[in-house]
Amino acid sequence: MKVGILGTGDISHAFMEASAIAGIESVAVYNRSFEKAEAFREKYGLVEAYDNVEWFMQDNRFDTVYVGMPNGLHCTYALQALEAGKNVIIEKPFCANLREFNELYAKADEKKKYLIEMDRILSLPNFKAIQEHLKETGFVSAVSANYSKYSRRYDAYLAGEVPNVFSTDMAGGALMDLGVYEVNIIVALFGMPDKVIYRVNKLSTGVDIAGDLLMEYPGFHANVIVAKNSYGNCHMIIQGTDGSILSEGWPSVLDNLSFIDHQGKKDIAADQPYDGFAYTLMDIKEIVENNDMDAYMARRNQSRRVMTVLDTARKSANIVFAADWQA
Ligand SMILES: NC(=O)c1ccc[n+]([C@@H]2O[C@H](COP(=O)([O-])OP(=O)(O)OC[C@H]3O[C@@H](n4cnc5c(N)ncnc54)[C@H](OP(=O)(O)O)[C@@H]3O)[C@@H](O)[C@H]2O)c1
Repeated sequence: MKVGILGTGDISHAFMEASAIAGIESVAVYNRSFEKAEAFREKYGLVEAYDNVEWFMQDNRFDTVYVGMPNGLHCTYALQALEAGKNVIIEKPFCANLREFNELYAKADEKKKYLIEMDRILSLPNFKAIQEHLKETGFVSAVSANYSKYSRRYDAYLAGEVPNVFSTDMAGGALMDLGVYEVNIIVALFGMPDKVIYRVNKLSTGVDIAGDLLMEYPGFHANVIVAKNSYGNCHMIIQGTDGSILSEGWPSVLDNLSFIDHQGKKDIAADQPYDGFAYTLMDIKEIVENNDMDAYMARRNQSRRVMTVLDTARKSANIVFAADWQA
């Protein structure tokens, strides 16, 4: 697998660090500004820097494109990459809505290319530890999670700017940015909820700056809090009749993992020296190199379920993206 990188934001730098751990080579980079693309190329010793996306896509020295662009641009760039015959690794959240999701996978199937979300959760050793210990909780009676992190881009918003993460054109908002991790975990553990209700505080741009997401399951509710204008006690807890699984920290990392029951609290954390990016990339590399269709389809189905919950949640909160207006 050889990669061409779309975008030079913080996340593309994180990609470079994680891909070094996963043993993945990157060859070229694109940014709309040549100076930024060239600075990125130089920093990591890549072969080519582009400010022309068509030329970037035609470069046959890489077979896979990493889409490190704002949410609202994922679909456009991923379609271009698939059309050019590349596999695609796409940032979370997968895209703006289910319509784009279906369009993207139709193109991936037509071109017989891999299209995989950089989800960060499913490959995490601590997520696997939760899966292993889940049966020890007995009957699950409640789930709650809080991912609240004050965004420096909120200050920019307050100063009159519209950063991508707070733009409906770019499919932004707290749910798409932070809640996607919590939804991913809950859906991966418990499947699709019977009902989804999202109550939000909106910015003038129309996106959610904070909100409460309720996911109803038979026998329990999952309550998810997200906020980008405050710091919270970030955690996730799965409470059961025999014991509870608690992660104290960001739900995207699931660290400080413990099991709580009548005997007290015991550490059940896995060995997890890297962030989720590296583990996901290792798994993606394995899927592509071993042509592992079972693992590929499992990830694809999970991405679809997450996208479905995000769409339903936004509908209940009347959050409308530019992408929702397109037929
Ligand atoms: N940032 C994080 O910590 C983080 C963590 C996990 C996942 N992600 C995901 O990574 C993706 C990118 O997020 P981000 O916060 O890094 O986005 P960003 O900083 O707003 O932009 C990332 C890249 O996209 C380019 N870009 C922005 N707007 C553009 C436009 N209108 N046309 C063409 N290029 C444009 C930027 O170029 P310029 O430099 O020229 O603006 C930059 O190279 C999102 O899907 C996000 O969910 C981000």
